[in-house]
Amino acid sequence: MEHAFYNKLIDNNKAWVERKLGEDSEYFSKLANGQQPPLLWIGCADSRVPANEIIGAQPGEVFVHRNIANMVLHTDMSMLSVLDYAVNVLKVKHVIVCGHYGCGGVKAAMSNSSFGLIDNWVRHIKDVYRFHHKELDAISDENERFERFVELNVKEQVLDLAKTSIVQGAWNKGQELHIHGWVYGVGSGVVKDLDVNFKCDKDLEAVYQLKF
Ligand code: CO
Repeated sequence: MEHAFYNKLIDNNKAWVERKLGEDSEYFSKLANGQQPPLLWIGCADSRVPANEIIGAQPGEVFVHRNIANMVLHTDMSMLSVLDYAVNVLKVKHVIVCGHYGCGGVKAAMSNSSFGLIDNWVRHIKDVYRFHHKELDAISDENERFERFVELNVKEQVLDLAKTSIVQGAWNKGQELHIHGWVYGVGSGVVKDLDVNFKCDKDLEAVYQLKF
């Protein structure tokens, strides 16, 4: 079964190339000229949340970074490099942090189980629980608490994006850069905008504001 899936991949690719070239014979030669995506997507690695597909974006339109539970950790060199390149070279206008209901990483953070090495990644999500434990502990229904935790985690990641020297540096230069928090429903396909929008450092608590 797994082999059958794998063995089809190259054929799928060939069929896709033919279909694209059928629509536009210069499709790939145009893409080869470079990219200027207006959007950076920071999402979960979950296989059910394919960035381009759920927002109807074409190749060339979204710069993508994905990890477990769509985390923005200011010590994560991979995330920082993607963010720096997207903001300072590609000059994206929007960054979306997109979480999703049913996120396994967030679920793990709610439990006391050990999952091995990943415990150290999930630890950051547990910190989000601690920041919001009053609100979360007050929700008696476990699934409702899980869904709210997913939303609060996205909000914290949006905040952590705004705290980075990269985002604040862009704002300081007067560069247009909006950051947003979304949650995707894997069971509905629908995106919910959490309305946590930042577009300048004045939206941040004073202690995080950097002077350049
Ligand atoms: Co997830």
